Parts: sequence; structure tokens; C-alpha cells
Amino acid sequence: MHVTHLSLADFRSYARAEVPLDPGVTAFVGANGQGKTNLVEAVGYLATLGSHRVASDAPLVRTGADRAVIRAAVTQGERSQLVELELNPGRANRARVNRSSQVRPRDVLGIVRTVLFAPEDLTLVKGDPGERRRFLDELITARAPRMAGVRSDYERVLKQRNTLLKSAAMARRHGGRGMDLSTLDVWDQHLARAGAELLAQRLDLVHTLQPLADKAYEQLAPGGGPILLEYRPSAPGAGQTREELYEQLIDALAEARKQEIERGVTLVGPHRDELLLRLGELPAKGYASHGESWSYALALRLASYDLLRSEGNEPVLVLDDVFAELDARRRERLAELVADGEQVLVTAAVDDDVPDVLKGTRYAVAGGTVERV
Ligand SMILES: Nc1ncnc2c1ncn2[C@@H]1O[C@H](COP(=O)(O)OP(=O)(O)O)[C@@H](O)[C@H]1O
Ligand SMILES: [Mg+2]
Repeated sequence: MHVTHLSLADFRSYARAEVPLDPGVTAFVGANGQGKTNLVEAVGYLATLGSHRVASDAPLVRTGADRAVIRAAVTQGERSQLVELELNPGRANRARVNRSSQVRPRDVLGIVRTVLFAPEDLTLVKGDPGERRRFLDELITARAPRMAGVRSDYERVLKQRNTLLKSAAMARRHGGRGMDLSTLDVWDQHLARAGAELLAQRLDLVHTLQPLADKAYEQLAPGGGPILLEYRPSAPGAGQTREELYEQLIDALAEARKQEIERGVTLVGPHRDELLLRLGELPAKGYASHGESWSYALALRLASYDLLRSEGNEPVLVLDDVFAELDARRRERLAELVADGEQVLVTAAVDDDVPDVLKGTRYAVAGGTVERV
């Protein structure tokens, strides 16, 4: 798919922006702080319902405005669609498809698909396990938009179960006889059901991504690998199917229950799992150099791109401020890898940083305006 037009209203630094887009490569060039990333961040938001830079919506709304609107015309094969999201920080966001009546924001997932690489992705390698879980879960949702529902079910059940555990922990501390724990059994089942579904998808994804990521790393940094993705579940076991994983989670929850009631928090489940990234024999986190970590993160994104492309409905590839970080050889390599993408959006501070094979449409971004050059 590709975006043929992007419209913004009160999004970040833009009071308004109208940006027609072609398939192929488009580069947004301009000095720092001029609003290049803001544009691609908006495209990414349509694909994930979140920003790659901030965890909440408030910073996305232009200072002084009370809502932001992101609208995109999207073409996939013969089909064209218009998606629109209204961001209302502190209140429910609203969504529309083809100007018709409202749909839930999560119903627009799958219309715009992106793989976005940005300097912030270094945290994929260097950051907390939560960053890697989010990476997996966003990719899972891009592969199967219905997983957004499973993810939010899981989050909801987890929250309610934690509330229950917290009050059990309180009751214990205050010398009470404790509470009726049969309720907890029911929540265990809910948690294990959504958890097993998420887990099955994550395991399948890691398995599928492994060879692609290793190949991408080899292309970016020949001889520097191999890289190995190792999923470490908090519920031990070798389960693969949803049924096996369900049992595995139920068993681990039973095992952990005493400790959970002491601590008042859920200790087992996909929210506690880790994706270990190895480079050669060593974990990348804590061992890999800056350059290696950077190539690693980029390899994970390129592998994601490869995967989504191979499964039909090609995503938009976004490379935010990537080329300045690479030496000339790696720049050329990366450019060759992505030059034939259906749509590639690139941002760069300096025109010369964008390799020649990616000479497509150019926009100059300065002082809140986006102009074709
Ligand atoms: N909510 C907001 N309201 C107004 N301006 C904003 C908002 N969020 C970010 N900005 C401004 O946007 C600019 C950064 O834009 P960005 O797209 O990140 O720049 P770059 O061109 O370097 O990628 C900064 O000047 C920042 O002050
Ligand atoms: Mg930027």
C-alpha cells in the first residue's frame, strides 16, 4: 500500500499541512527542528495508534489547540481509502474511514501499514524489555490487526487481576483471613487465554523473523554477526500451540500464586517475558558497541519490512534521520536494499546524506511549510 495524500491539522508544529505523496521514494529535507519527523510520525500513528517518540498523545497536539487530526488517502492495489484520526488527549480518540460514520480507532489498523526506523530505535537494543515486547506486539498487530483486540483484552485482565492481588496483599498485611481466592482462578483463566494467544503469535514471529534479521545484519555489517533472537518466557515450558501455552501459563500462575499474593502483582505472563538479542555469543545489551547496536536495531526493522512485504500488502518504509548515522558504504547498502519499495519516506537534514539511488521526490521542510522542490 502507499499513502497518496497526508493532511494534518494541529498536529505537532503544524497548524495545517497538505502533502501529496507519490509511490517510490520521497525525501523530506530540512534543518533540525523544522518538522520533518513530525510528518512521518503522523503516518506511523495511523499504523500503530501511537507515536514512536512519546507514550501519550498530549505532545502530538499543537500547543494551544485542543485536538489534532491526521488524515490520509491510502491506495492498496485497486482500492483507495480515506482514514482519519482525531486525537483528543484525556478523552477518547475518534476515527473515521471513507468519511462515513465513526468507527473505533482500532478498526483503522491494517489500512496504513508502516515499518519505521528512527534514532529512538537504539532503545530496542539498549533499553528495557518493554521496548522489545512493544516491538514484537506492534509487528504482530501489523500482521494481524485483530491482535489489537487480544492485546487490549490482555492489558485489561492484567490490570484487574493486579487490583485483586493488591487487595489480597493488603488484607494479608492487616492480619485478615484473606479473601475468597476462587475469583482469582477465574482471572487466571482469562489471563492465560489472552496471554496464550499473544504468546503463540510472539513465538511464531520470533521464529519467522530470526533468519530475516540475521540476513539483514549480514548485509549491513558483513561478517559482524550472527545475530540470534531468543524468546524467554516468564512461564517456563516448550509449548507452541495456544492450548499448550494456555496450560503452561495456568501451571506457572499456580506456582507463582503465593508469591503474587505476597507482592500484590502478576509475576507471570507475556508482560514479563523478555526477547534476548544476541550478537555472536554475547547479549547485545550491555556488550554491543554503539555502531553494532545501531545496525542491530536497523536489521530488526529491515527484517520486519521483509516479513510484511512477503506476506502481501506492502508497508510504507519510513527512514527517519538514518543516513547521517551511517558511513558511505553502509548508506549505499541500505539504499540498495530498500530502493524498490512501494513507498519509502526518508527524512534528512542534508540533501547530500540521501544516497543517489534514493533520488525520488524531494520536499523542503522549513518553518512549518512543506514544499516540493
Ligand atoms: N505539540 C507541539 N506543538 C507545537 N510545536 C511542537 C509540538 N511538538 C513538537 N513541536 C515542535 O516541532 C519541532 C520538532 O519537529 P521535528 O519534526 O521533530 O523536527 P525535525 O525536522 O528535526 O525532524 C520542534 O521545534 C518542536 O518545538
Ligand atoms: Mg527529526
